[in-house]
Formats: sequence, C-alpha cells, structure tokens
Amino acid sequence: MSSYVLLGLATLHGVHAWGVLGHATIAYIAQNYVTAETASWAQGVLNDTSSSYLASIASFADQFRATAAGAWSAPLHFIDAEDNPPTTCNVNFTRDCGTAGCVVSAIANYTQRSGDGRLTAANTAEALKFLVHFVGDVTQPLHDEAFELGGNDIPVHFMGFNDNLHSDWDTFMPEELIGGSSLADAQSWANTLIAEIDSGTFESQKASWIAGDNTANALTTATRWASDANAFVCTVVMPQGAAALTAMPDLFPTYYNAVIGTIELQIAKGGYRLGNWLNMVFEKEVAREGHWRRV
Ligand SMILES: *[C@@H]1O[C@H](CO)[C@@H](O)[C@H](O)[C@H]1NC(C)=O
Ligand SMILES: *[C@@H]1O[C@H](CO)[C@@H](O)[C@H](O)[C@H]1NC(C)=O
Ligand SMILES: *[C@@H]1O[C@H](CO)[C@@H](O)[C@H](O)[C@H]1NC(C)=O
Ligand SMILES: [Zn+2]
Repeated sequence: MSSYVLLGLATLHGVHAWGVLGHATIAYIAQNYVTAETASWAQGVLNDTSSSYLASIASFADQFRATAAGAWSAPLHFIDAEDNPPTTCNVNFTRDCGTAGCVVSAIANYTQRSGDGRLTAANTAEALKFLVHFVGDVTQPLHDEAFELGGNDIPVHFMGFNDNLHSDWDTFMPEELIGGSSLADAQSWANTLIAEIDSGTFESQKASWIAGDNTANALTTATRWASDANAFVCTVVMPQGAAALTAMPDLFPTYYNAVIGTIELQIAKGGYRLGNWLNMVFEKEVAREGHWRRV
C-alpha cells in the first residue's frame, strides 16, 4: 500500500518541468517587471485582466503535453545536452536539439509567434502560454541535461520518499522551502525573490542575467540561457556524480541545504528574464509592427 502510494506520487510529479509552484513563481516575478503596456497586451492576448494573468497559465504546457493532442510538445520542455557530468557540462544546439525540437527552438518559435500579430487570437494565446512556461523550464538545470533522462532515472530519497532527482529539483525541494504549491504560495515566494532582486542578494547580478538578451536573436539567447543552467549540473546538481546521490540515505538536509540557494537563484532569474523578454516582444515586435490595439 505505502509503496504503491509512493510510486504514484513519484509518477505524478516526475514530469519534465519546474512544478506548478516554480512556474507560477517565475510568472509572478515576471508580472512585476513588465511595463504597463506589456501587461495590457499580455492580458488582452490571454483574455485575463486578473492579478494572476501569467501565473494562471504558467503550467498550461505541462497539462497540454499530458493529453493525446499535446503529446507532440513533450520534447519542447527540455534540451538533451549530450555532455558528461560531472566532468564536463556544455550545451551545443546542433548536437543537442533533436529533430522534434527542444526548449531552445521552442523559445525561439514562440517568441516569434507571440509577437507576430498575424496569427489567430487562439494561436497567439497558445504561443504566449508556451513562452511563459518554456522560459521557466530552461532555467532548471536538469532540463538542460541528457544524462539519465535529465535525472529522471536517478533514484534518490528525499524527506522519506523514494523519488528521482529531477522531480526533487522540479517540485519537492521548492515545496519543502515554501510549504505549499498554491498561487498564494507562489505570490509569496515571488515577493521574497523580487525583494532580493531589487535590493538584496541578487541586486548586483540581475543585469548579467539579461545581458545580451535579444528577441531578434532568440535562438542565440535561449542557447545561452540553457548553457547557463546546464553548467550547474556539474557544479551544484551532481558535483560528485549521480551514484553519490543515490547512496545518500536522504537528500535532506545536507544536499537540500547545498542546492536550495541555486533553486532560488534560478527561479528569480527565470522570472526577471521573462519579464524583460516579454517587454522586448511587446516593444520590438508587437508595438513596432502596429499589430496591437489596446483592449
Ligand atoms: C474572455 O473571458 C470572458 C470571461 O472572463 C468570456 O466571457 C469571454 O468569452 C472570453 N473571450 C474570448 C474571446 O475567449
Ligand atoms: C556542436 O555539435 C556539432 C554536431 O555534433 C559539431 O559539428 C560542432 O563542432 C559542435 N560545436 C562545438 C563548438 O563543439
Ligand atoms: C512553431 O509552433 C507552431 C505552433 O505550435 C508549430 O506548428 C510549428 O511546428 C513550430 N515550428 C517550429 C520550427 O518549431
Ligand atoms: Zn515543462
């Protein structure tokens, strides 16, 4: 009975994405950094003027990929870097982005489509929902790693559960930090990280998070984002290799304490980048092309 329950939990959550909490937090952070014009445009595209217009759709892509109609989109949540952690970490778009696409090509595609202005309202909304999700996914180091299916095949113990390293990074370690996964939890975590970005730990680094970002060269930008996150696989996620993690009686507290700061960094970075990126989509594509009408 209990092993059935544990297996069920691991299966339900062992998907390729920051969990609902991480994606919604990234979205709330982005909402804080978009301009009033960008916000109005996005609210119009999403037909949602609520205070959670990005957070509410941040996990749409994970629900969609689980449907028969959305199965084609599953490869878009990650890029399978064929590197060799912990010895060597690197992303090479030509080598690593499969023919079905990957998170880097998807960010480029949905950046272009979000700002295109000639698509149907439904296709524009789909593009923006995908973009909000994938800019989040690419900051999770194990979404930029092929080794053991991005850690999905690395069995570990966390807080007494048998699960896998990927789902602990996506979901269980963030939830351990915050204590829940509701939109209110995400808003609260976002507020904490926004304070760190504005005048705390992250203030001095935030300019580097978006340096060189350019919607006109989205593939290059997204490859850089993937490389940045992938580097943590060697330095933080599994610096002693995967077997050392599987051998630990529990990842809590030693491993959790060693990595939780990087999880916070990557969520903050994803949100700050997303806000800046949406501002660029609006200013450089939507407003400039004159496709946008205030709603
Ligand atoms: C927009 O949302 C409202 C409800 O908030 C709904 O009544 C309306 O049909 C939606 N419009 C479109 C185009 O989906
Ligand atoms: C990236 O991968 C391609 C294809 O495997 C290879 O030809 C190219 O040399 C690689 N680039 C770098 C910088 O290693
Ligand atoms: C871009 O997105 C559209 C809509 O989801 C999809 O049909 C198309 O195949 C994508 N193109 C590329 C190059 O990924
Ligand atoms: Zn995802």
